[in-house]
Amino acid sequence: MKVFDVYPLNPIEIAKAAGLNVWDAAGQKYLDLYGGHAVISIGHTHPHYVQKLTDQLNAVAFYSNSVLNPLQQELARLLGEASDKQDYSLFLCSTGAEANENALKVASFYNNRKKIIAFTGAFHGRTSLAVACTDNPKIVAPVNQHDIEFLPFNDEDALESAFKTYGEEIAAVIVESIQGVGGIQEATPLFLAKIRELTSAYDAVFIADEVQCGYGRSGRFYAQDDSNLKADIYTMAKGMGNGYPIAGIVLSPKFTPWHGMLGTTFGGSHLACAAGIAVLEVIKTENLIDNAKNIGAYLLDELRTFDKTLAVRGRGLMIGIDLPEELKHIRKDLLFKDHIFTGTANPNVIRLLPALNITKKDADFFLEALNKRLSMA
Ligand SMILES: Cc1ncc(COP(=O)(O)O)c(C=O)c1O
Repeated sequence: MKVFDVYPLNPIEIAKAAGLNVWDAAGQKYLDLYGGHAVISIGHTHPHYVQKLTDQLNAVAFYSNSVLNPLQQELARLLGEASDKQDYSLFLCSTGAEANENALKVASFYNNRKKIIAFTGAFHGRTSLAVACTDNPKIVAPVNQHDIEFLPFNDEDALESAFKTYGEEIAAVIVESIQGVGGIQEATPLFLAKIRELTSAYDAVFIADEVQCGYGRSGRFYAQDDSNLKADIYTMAKGMGNGYPIAGIVLSPKFTPWHGMLGTTFGGSHLACAAGIAVLEVIKTENLIDNAKNIGAYLLDELRTFDKTLAVRGRGLMIGIDLPEELKHIRKDLLFKDHIFTGTANPNVIRLLPALNITKKDADFFLEALNKRLSMA
């Protein structure tokens, strides 16, 4: 059997990883500013994480959601504390798409409606409803038909007029406070405030998709925290398990659960919770949210002094660098010549999504390499 060929692959086999570095099978070291797509939050093979997962694996790795699992309660406690949402509750699942699918379902259960508002540039995952809310017709199959309205991102007037016309039909508005796949585009505080105002006025549900921009990456626990608003539901995944598949939705007290309302086999397993707990412990003890804010600000300040880039956007450790078409080869050069992993977005955006424990030395290594590539171009 061969592997179903859906991913364009770099010809690099990663054999070892530690902190901000990975090594290929031939022993070449790389600086990882991509974090395996924003997943590595506390650094590769962090000793506390490895110990906690090893201990858990030796105790019990998995049992289903039919028995008590105090690790879920401990994870919820730590998450409530880290995000200052002690009065919210947590439902655990395994992927970002699954988190969004469940959040949208809870919204529809809550107000008994089915129209969803999503925005241009959005990416919410690949399950049926999540992909229907994703602004990329190429990956939406005919079977993924749902009642979705796409409105222009950051356009308060369009939102206002949509709510005026069919506000009573809207189940939820789903938004990334910083669009990732969309190329690091920030929602303005005014736009988020308008979503809050209108969803509250019409009893629709405000869903903050924090799968990529959340979990400390922006320099706040949720990227949306900078707007001083509260969403009704937050969805999270990537950084939550530092590579172990764990995702969650965090729901405001206005939602009442009932047995059978949501469910999944793997969500909240013992091993997943151990990973989630280890991540939150390290984020706290190593002050990683402050580090994300500080190193992110340093990178943004320095990058903005570079000429030849078209734009530099972002917040914390979610940074987009727009390159002109003729310099789009620089990302590959950084990988194959300077041995630095970065992410990408269309059309020619270098996306930085490093682990939150990146040092100034790592940042300087990248800045020097990019500066050299730009000056050679
Ligand atoms: C904002 C956002 N939401 C949802 C998802 C989907 O997450 P997953 O791939 O874990 O299903 C992604 C993945 O890139 C994302 O960036």
